[in-house]
Amino acid sequence: MSSAASSPQSTMPAAPRRLFTSDNAAGAHPSVMAAVVAANDGHVLAYGTDVYTRRAEKAFNELFGRDVRTLFVYGGTGANVLALASVLQQAESVICSDSAHIHVDETGAPEKILGAKMLDVPCLHAKLTPEVIRAAAGVRGSVHHAQPGVVSITQPTELGTLYSASEVRAICDTAHELGMLVHMDGARIGTAAAALGGTRAALRSFTVDAGVDVLSFGGTKAGVMFGEAVVWFDPRRATRAEYLRKNVTQLHSKMRFISAQYEALLADDLFIQLGQSANTAALALYEATRHHTVLGLTSPPVVNSLFPTLHEPAKTRLQDWSFFWDWDQSAHLVRWMTSWDVTRDDVALFAAGVTAVLGASAGN
Ligand SMILES: Cc1ncc(COP(=O)(O)O)c(C=O)c1O
Repeated sequence: MSSAASSPQSTMPAAPRRLFTSDNAAGAHPSVMAAVVAANDGHVLAYGTDVYTRRAEKAFNELFGRDVRTLFVYGGTGANVLALASVLQQAESVICSDSAHIHVDETGAPEKILGAKMLDVPCLHAKLTPEVIRAAAGVRGSVHHAQPGVVSITQPTELGTLYSASEVRAICDTAHELGMLVHMDGARIGTAAAALGGTRAALRSFTVDAGVDVLSFGGTKAGVMFGEAVVWFDPRRATRAEYLRKNVTQLHSKMRFISAQYEALLADDLFIQLGQSANTAALALYEATRHHTVLGLTSPPVVNSLFPTLHEPAKTRLQDWSFFWDWDQSAHLVRWMTSWDVTRDDVALFAAGVTAVLGASAGN
């Protein structure tokens, strides 16, 4: 650590206007806000019987190139719970990675609400593989085990890694062969679509075309104010989903305000463009900081998160200046995450703060 690490906070540059904590620290995109304001005109029927919801559903059909079933919910945990509720049978479990949000970060909501076991398995880079799924499914047929009924993967993963379209296909083929269905947690799906080609075709290649059955389509981290979508690629899988949505407390009465946001987010593939902006900012941050070898940033991010190593006192000093989350304290890992509105100036300022704390020369 250089002597700069012990210099007072007043020597730090101005903190960037945007935080590098998470993509849900960002506000909503102006187009989304405009859509909410426009939807505020007059009265419409509640609970989704409105023109905004019909148009947003149509936009999802167009996005995926077929008639899908789309239901809007309040949040990402709720989207996952509803998606899983629709495809799980009683006494079944969900095979997921040990980093999966449904397992780690949903306060036990899937277990509590669905009464289903999250069968988490250790995974390299937070990614399930056909082999790992086969091994986890080995408990099938034993009356002492919840029966694996669904495989849940996160795209991009909680560790900022991606499944290629062929990897998703292999997982879906394996799950289907074993009589299971596949859920994808796409809380940050715009960043994945951007990273894997940036087109609707790319998005379809790792979702509907790969065999995913039900998708939690995230908008909050992409630029909406609140609300997520759940998409069933075969509407026959969603025959009871409308009732389940209310049953798991995810039916918003003034639905038009969620639907209108999604109409804006899908128009001209805005969510992919915003995902690309977040990814570009993360890459710029990597380029601006990787010369500090103590950070251990050895490969560029594929989406919008970096997981550098930071020891004390540098870590707390930087967090006090511009807050970001710890990721794995035992390994001294923190997470820097970019969002759709992070600018080049924000990146430059944040990198200047990192340099002020770690010292200017490479190797610090
Ligand atoms: C991978 C993943 N899934 C789902 C969610 C949804 O969370 P929330 O219930 O906070 O909207 C998040 C939010 O951090 C997430 O990172």
